[in-house]
Amino acid sequence: MLADEVVDCHVLVIGSGGAGVRAAIEASQYGDTVLISKTIVGKGGCTTMAEGGFNAVLREQDSCGIHYEDTLKGGAYLNDPELVNILTKEAPLRMGDLVKWGAVFDFTDADEIAQRPFGGQRFPRTCYAGDRTGHEMMMTLVDRLAATDVTTLQEYTVIDLLRDGDTVTGAIALDEKGTIVLMKADSTVLATGGGTKVYDISTNSSSGTGDGYAMGYRAGAELIDMEMVQFHPTGAVFPYDARGRLVTEAVRGEGGVLKNSQGERFMKTYDPARMELSTRDVVARAIATEILKGRGTQNGGVHLDVTHLPREQIESRLPVMLEQFLKFGVDIRTAPMEVAPTAHHIMGGLRITPECRTTLPGLFACGEVSGGVHGANRLGGNALAETQVFGKRAGEAAGKAGKRQKTADERQVDTWQKRLDGFLTGSMNPAQVRKKLQLAMWQGAGIFRNAGALEETLQTIRQLQTVNLKAASARNLAECCIVQNMCLTASLICRSALLRTESRGAHVRTDITATHDAEYSPFGHTFVSNAREGIETREVKA
Ligand code: FUM
Repeated sequence: MLADEVVDCHVLVIGSGGAGVRAAIEASQYGDTVLISKTIVGKGGCTTMAEGGFNAVLREQDSCGIHYEDTLKGGAYLNDPELVNILTKEAPLRMGDLVKWGAVFDFTDADEIAQRPFGGQRFPRTCYAGDRTGHEMMMTLVDRLAATDVTTLQEYTVIDLLRDGDTVTGAIALDEKGTIVLMKADSTVLATGGGTKVYDISTNSSSGTGDGYAMGYRAGAELIDMEMVQFHPTGAVFPYDARGRLVTEAVRGEGGVLKNSQGERFMKTYDPARMELSTRDVVARAIATEILKGRGTQNGGVHLDVTHLPREQIESRLPVMLEQFLKFGVDIRTAPMEVAPTAHHIMGGLRITPECRTTLPGLFACGEVSGGVHGANRLGGNALAETQVFGKRAGEAAGKAGKRQKTADERQVDTWQKRLDGFLTGSMNPAQVRKKLQLAMWQGAGIFRNAGALEETLQTIRQLQTVNLKAASARNLAECCIVQNMCLTASLICRSALLRTESRGAHVRTDITATHDAEYSPFGHTFVSNAREGIETREVKA
């Protein structure tokens, strides 16, 4: 059986965060483009929640070469150097696009775009709009999108990539009533963002469920470095419902200091040179260690203090933080915040070329769902830049790609229809599976990992993958598909974490004692796909 509703286009973009919208804007210059999103465009996704900033080299004293070196060093030399080179060279151009399209960034008194220091960078190159940079970017991109011919399908959930052999020819989606819609496309761009909602504590919006990793994997694409999960050092610890909510790195960029319950500025023990502006992997581990050693606060965090800063600076540069913490009952002008690490970003993802081609014909990927740019640890501010640099590249390459026979495999649609029918008679509430998964991942695949805990977590995931999920009504079918995607994404993280028998960047294996300088690691990318699974090795020059 084929779906009742069929959409046919040249380029299909899946996902409406910064990368997806940028890709759609670009692709629309080359032919009919459809942007499909499980949220309202501009309202969902993680870009709009990104607070701190966008890294771009704008001053003569800075250089793309230094940005490149900072990014590789921060990424523990696991990054794809070609992708990093592109990021650093094109970020200023994409920043220029945003300004040209009306984005209002903060300016200095000398009428230049203001830049603030962020961790692991030798130059203050993070451009910002107060502490709501992503929101400003998304509003600008959505305005620009409205000026194009792109067709947007909102609140549609893509459940699988449509295939003809190895070639991706579009996607299968569910509309808001749970009806299958077939999306046929010459080129498909996956821009579905990240997936740290597989963890109990996460900064991600509700859409960060890892659908793109799961769909890419099922279609046969190769994913790299899925073990590399970034735990942002500073997430809120209370109230309970706000746990994990992002407390922007801009707080430390503006001069905020971290203290344990004994009032010690503990970063002097972990990175005395860079202190609070060390890289995220180091700061997150430092905070986690202080808490584990019993030097945390009663609420299970550490203090992040800006009370020594001028009130005017807090009010003008950190207005969202001020307002957010006032709602939590804390005035950050006079009292410290309490923070602890929170799952924030997946550095791994679909393997891409500089044109954002994946290992499958017809499929492109950009933004967080792709891997390689950030290596083993992402620098704060490089994600927003990545969305624009690689969003444009993906849209352009997909747009320029030729037309193809958009064959739909009837059996694939049939299989999905049967699976969806099965959800209507299933027995297990997907919300329960989601919670069990999140707790298991937080427990067994967090900041510190070991083989035993990872194996145990994988066992739990495998068991959760066998339950009969129940959709309360046709409208809830998408939730069952999403929870299955979460389980698959989580298993890719654990399998990759077992493959990497070293500690590197954000991936710390407590059961492996051998150490080496990251730059001279004998290991390259981990890779997982339907066809093969392993870790690359490389010649080590001492
Ligand atoms: O801390 C932040 O504002 C987050 C920025 C980022 O992840 O790049």
